[in-house]
Parts: sequence; C-alpha cells; structure tokens
Amino acid sequence: MAKRLITDADVRGKRVLCRCDFNVPMADGEITDDTRIRAALPTTTWLLDHDARLILCSHLGRPKGKVVKKLSLAPVAKRLSQLLDRKVPLADGVVGKQVRKEVDKLGKGDALLLENLRFEPGEEANDPAFAQKLADLCDIYVNDAFGAAHRAHASTEGVARLVPSYIGFLMTKEIETLSRLREAPEPPYLAIVGGAKVSDKLDVLTELVTQVDALLIGGGMANTFLLAQGKEVGKSLVERDQVDNARGVIERARNREVDLGLPTDVVVAPDIDGPPTIKPVDDVRPNEAIYDIGPETARVFADRIRQARTIFWNGPLGVAEQDQFAHGTSVVAEAVAKADGFTVIGGGDSVAAIEALDLADRIDHISTGGGASLEFLEGKTLPGVAAIPDAGEDGS
Ligand code: 3PG
Repeated sequence: MAKRLITDADVRGKRVLCRCDFNVPMADGEITDDTRIRAALPTTTWLLDHDARLILCSHLGRPKGKVVKKLSLAPVAKRLSQLLDRKVPLADGVVGKQVRKEVDKLGKGDALLLENLRFEPGEEANDPAFAQKLADLCDIYVNDAFGAAHRAHASTEGVARLVPSYIGFLMTKEIETLSRLREAPEPPYLAIVGGAKVSDKLDVLTELVTQVDALLIGGGMANTFLLAQGKEVGKSLVERDQVDNARGVIERARNREVDLGLPTDVVVAPDIDGPPTIKPVDDVRPNEAIYDIGPETARVFADRIRQARTIFWNGPLGVAEQDQFAHGTSVVAEAVAKADGFTVIGGGDSVAAIEALDLADRIDHISTGGGASLEFLEGKTLPGVAAIPDAGEDGS
C-alpha cells in the first residue's frame, strides 16, 4: 500500500521536521561521498520551494548517546548549504531551549540542520519522551531516510506517531523500485551476494533463494559455503557455526532448482599482503587463505549476469579494497553496469566498486540503503515506513 507523500501535505509556513540519512563516509573531517546528501535534494528542495520552515535531521555514525565531536553534522551542514544554495546553519544541539529558539527564528523557505540525533540516548532507545521533544519542534514530520528505515528509533518511528507524517520522494523511489524486485521481477532474476560474513546476510540469502532463478555467492561468505561442501579452505575467513545454515541455503537452492553459483577457482595468498596465486578451488592448501574469486569464476558470473533480466547485487566478491584482490568485484561491477536487464545495487562496497569504474549512471537504481534494502527484500516490515499512514488515511 502506498504511503502518504509530502505532496499530500500543506507545508506552506509550517515547521517541517524532515528525517534524512546523512550518514555519509568521512575522512579527516571531510565528506568522501555525498551521494546520500544529494539523494535527499528532491525532497528538501520541494519543501523549501513550498515555503516550509525546514528542520533537517539525521544520525551520523554510532556515538551511542554521547556527544562525539568528530561525529558532528557540521560538515553536512556545510555541504547542504552549497547544494541548496542557501545558508543551512547547524543547530546548537538536537532538542532543548536553544534549538527551539533557532527553530522559532526560521522564516518560510529557511532551513536548519539539527545536530547528530544519536548524541541523544533517547534516539536509539526510541524513548517516547525524546520523540515528544522532536514532535514539539514541528507541525509536520517527513521521513526521507530510507537508509535508516529499518531502525525503530525516535526520529524514524516514535515521532511519526505523534504528528501528521508523510514520506519523501527518495523513500518513495526506494520503496517502488525494491518492491518491483520483491513482487514482480522479470525472469530470469539473478542475485549476487558477497561480503565477509554469512551471519550478516543469512536472512536475505534464505529469502532470496526462494525468489530468484540464480544466486551467485562470492566474498568471504563463500568460504563457509565451500566448507559446507567439504572443501579445504585453509586459513580463509570462515564461520564454522554457520556451516549448517550454508548447507540449508544449498539445500533450498537444490529443491527449488535455483542455479547456485559458487567459486570454482579462487585467488589465494599466505596472508592478506600476498603474493596472490590463482588456483582451482579444490587445490587450496591448509597454509593459504582465499581473498577473491578467480578469473574463471568471474567470467562465468559475468556470463550469467548478461543473461539475466533482473539483477540485484549486494557485497564485494573479494577483498576489493586491496588491488590484488579486487579483480572479481570489478568484473562483476562491469557486467552489472553493462547488463541489459533491470539492475539494482545496494551496500556501500558494491556502490563504491561501480563508482570507481565510473559506471554508476548505467545502473537503474543505486539504493541509498545497505541494511535497509536487504531487510526490505527479506520481506520484513521497515518500522520507519510502517509508522507513516497509508495514502488517503487521515492519521493525524
Ligand atoms: C546505514 O549506513 O546503513 C544507515 O545509515 C544506518 O546506519 P546504522 O547501521 O548505524 O543504523
């Protein structure tokens, strides 16, 4: 069911609290990728153009309820000011008297960014008293933070139940696109799942294997699957307590006649500093560790990607931050970008691989949510979405 969208609201002159996901990567106090800030622009611009008094808010990192200076949203306020071409000051805190004064000073079409929501212990605890303080700042609440929609926090869930609430354009786009995968993927539907740990993605693997026609597994998590098949994986990263779960996924794939792709050749080394050797997966020695899929596997994966009509990719296929183990991830990134099928990517590392190849504009949808996109595809209800009334509902 579609959710109530900001275009259903009369925001003129109203104080609008807009939850965004400005949890952007930073290095030495500088934003290294502003994709999430740019992705929020359609909603923020629309609100400002419609004379809202805009109060933006987000979390950054995991300060765990304490003020951590290096997790201040000051660099985000600066970037927003540039992108929105107007001053977006950073408030002197998240809630409280001083912040209230700053909100009261906002004129129509002005914007203010609250400090990092997670500086307040009530945020992650979804404390009703803290949610009420957020609600007291505004007349209308908008959730455009798809990346944080799987969190039931005060700013994503609690406050939405206290004031008239709506979703923004980014949230709508994410839900519509990911719903297309969940509800009506054009076959053959292929998913590529990588990353270090099976335990992080077991739920999505278990669910995806019931939906896709082909599932390709790479990255550190593939080692646990290889172990489940009785192969020698040497010193590779493995999760022995997940071997039975990996067997369960293999079994499900077999029962549903899903084409399950695991590495047939690999790049190994004595340790992460190399030197790398390519070998068949059956030849791995006890003193070696697997750090990437091999070129033959990458070629087979790329072929399957070419044949698919719907493609979802999450997670690197090897230790992609090291050049010598990045080949598998690059081949897959290029194949996904060049595929004729409908392509969706989620998760920071896969997106970074596509961007490094300068192919992002060839992907149909790059999700701003890592965990959120996975939970959505698992069929879970996202608390940040559930808290917003359905379209046509009064709910205020
Ligand atoms: C993300 O980066 O996936 C979101 O911003 C959520 O962050 P979190 O995992 O710290 O809740």
